Amino acid sequence: MDPLIARPRRLRRTPAMRELVRETLLHPANFIYPLFILPGNGVRNPVGSMPEVFQLSVDQALQECEELLELGVRSVILFGIPDAKDSVGSGAYASDGIVQQATRAIKQRFPEMLVIADVCLCEYTDHGHCGLLHGQEILNDETVELLVRAAISQADAGADIVAPSDMMDGRIAAIREGLDGAGFQNIPVMSYAVKYASSFYGPFRDAAGSVPTFGDRRTHQMDPANFREALKEVQLDLAEGADIIMVKPAMPCLDVIREVSIITDVPVAAYQVSGEYAMLHASAANGWTNLELTMMESLTAIRRAGASIIITYFAKRAAKQLQANR
Ligand code: PBG
Repeated sequence: MDPLIARPRRLRRTPAMRELVRETLLHPANFIYPLFILPGNGVRNPVGSMPEVFQLSVDQALQECEELLELGVRSVILFGIPDAKDSVGSGAYASDGIVQQATRAIKQRFPEMLVIADVCLCEYTDHGHCGLLHGQEILNDETVELLVRAAISQADAGADIVAPSDMMDGRIAAIREGLDGAGFQNIPVMSYAVKYASSFYGPFRDAAGSVPTFGDRRTHQMDPANFREALKEVQLDLAEGADIIMVKPAMPCLDVIREVSIITDVPVAAYQVSGEYAMLHASAANGWTNLELTMMESLTAIRRAGASIIITYFAKRAAKQLQANR
């Protein structure tokens, strides 16, 4: 055999050798764990389509935060399941809204925890849409005004970051201006800049009770067929003042994550969404794949693509595994 043959296998011989040359590492501090908050006390409702995920009352969410901090996961993103919904989603911007209550409680008990507030109306409207309706149409600018109110009331409750997930046009600039005007110049905006109208959000809508009563989200979320349009959304949100850019979903969009990480100089986040989580669990439950392995491989792939921050329902489980591997 030619003595000069390239032998990449030399660097794969032993675990230590492989670790020495490993390019992509996961760290629990880069995970954001989603929490679904509902009113009450001692409530822990399992979400059928999302094993190990629960709708939690505030006291239970605090327990969750304690466990997360012990595991090195320092960030949570909050979604609210309000007692009552209406056509204008007032629970999203009520000063005693469920997310505002949870934020206050978490920040009081665990000031070191980063609390991120998802900004959208869909969990709070009785029609399940992300904005105000005129007939069947989702109004843009009128909705943006309410999103600004929601972001300010969340910052007022102590949220460290606000994360608009609605995909209305112009909302980042409006929210930035609103936050600044209210004295929250130091609260970053993490924009769901590239949010596709994905079929992988199904289980989330069970968890958050936000299935639209008619129609779909395709007039505001992006067509999964489009790549160049994603870059336009990113440019707009950066120009409007976004501090962190998110791509969602994650695994179906690794190409987009890659490109966004190259063309921007801000941190890139990716949301490994409910359907991605459910899919890996379902396959493992059937004995077809190994959950620990597919979990770590999927998270590593998302990070390798260029996302430094990952929102994932696996945050706790993956952090435990990282701890065990040490
Ligand atoms: C909207 C929002 C959604 C998700 C995060 N924020 C749902 C939607 O757009 O319908 C989906 C997250 C997931 O699927 O895990 N507030």
